Amino acid sequence: MDRKKITVIGAGNVGATTAQRLAEKDLCDVVLVDIVEGMPQGKALDLMQAGPVVGYDTRVTGTNGYEDTAGSDIIVITSGLPRKPGMSRDDLLKVNAGIVKDVALKAVAKSPDAMVIVVSNPLDAMTYVAHKHSGLPANRVMGMAGILDSARFRAFIAMELEVSVNDITAFVLGGHGDSMVPSTRYTTVAGIPVEDLIPSAKLDAIVERTRKGGGEIVALLKTGSAYYAPSAAAVQMCESILLDRKMILPCAVLSQGKYDGCDGLFVGLPAKLGGNGVEEVVKFRLSPQESDALRKSAEVVRELCEAVDRLGF
Ligand code: LAC
Repeated sequence: MDRKKITVIGAGNVGATTAQRLAEKDLCDVVLVDIVEGMPQGKALDLMQAGPVVGYDTRVTGTNGYEDTAGSDIIVITSGLPRKPGMSRDDLLKVNAGIVKDVALKAVAKSPDAMVIVVSNPLDAMTYVAHKHSGLPANRVMGMAGILDSARFRAFIAMELEVSVNDITAFVLGGHGDSMVPSTRYTTVAGIPVEDLIPSAKLDAIVERTRKGGGEIVALLKTGSAYYAPSAAAVQMCESILLDRKMILPCAVLSQGKYDGCDGLFVGLPAKLGGNGVEEVVKFRLSPQESDALRKSAEVVRELCEAVDRLGF
């Protein structure tokens, strides 16, 4: 029986932690790719040697090329520069667009039937770049951000109410940037609307902290950006696809005809992820304010994608 295979491109903190989480789930083989000689090989060997202790049989291969990635079911693209203090996600546009284009072309040439999950920033624009150059249908290309942003929102709410994070359901929509749209109306704590439990001023502060959640960590780490939560989010997407779980997760997906102002863009929307990738962009009713905020966020994403085109990527 063929084992499933996931290629993780970029063996930095996000990529290596993604490989670790995948290995520990024992779901599939993992190929870790990076341009730095020896680094992905070393991390892969280290992960193989953790197997006997943790109890997984995942085969992890490290490589500087794409031969070993052939026939992957999923390609997770984490390569690119991370954010540094003072740098916006958008400052990364130019350099990361070149990197994402290059790796998407090389990886998809070896795995034409794969799904691609983009993690590189600026997220929504990089997902657009991967789709444009991979030649894959839109249901096979998606970006990881909404799960991360929603997880931050859920974590902050759980801290505030001192309840289990498992009780909290939340959706953060829109672009992965300061314009993201945490929907308080659809956020519940054990089914109870969060607006009934947290006073509005406090909730507004939590929304704001969520919007700036990535930057808060960049400012603390000083030399890079978050990776524990981003890798966990990418792995949840992989799992929903590989196991055909059909989870409804906020992801950057191509929007067509469902949400005002989002058409033709990869932008954070609730999506059903299963064996066929993005099986549905789930439509739910937004209030006029939410709809307006989503439209504005989509506009920011559109400008970034136009910049990508202008720069020739
Ligand atoms: C974050 C960066 C990676 O949100 O965008 O943590």
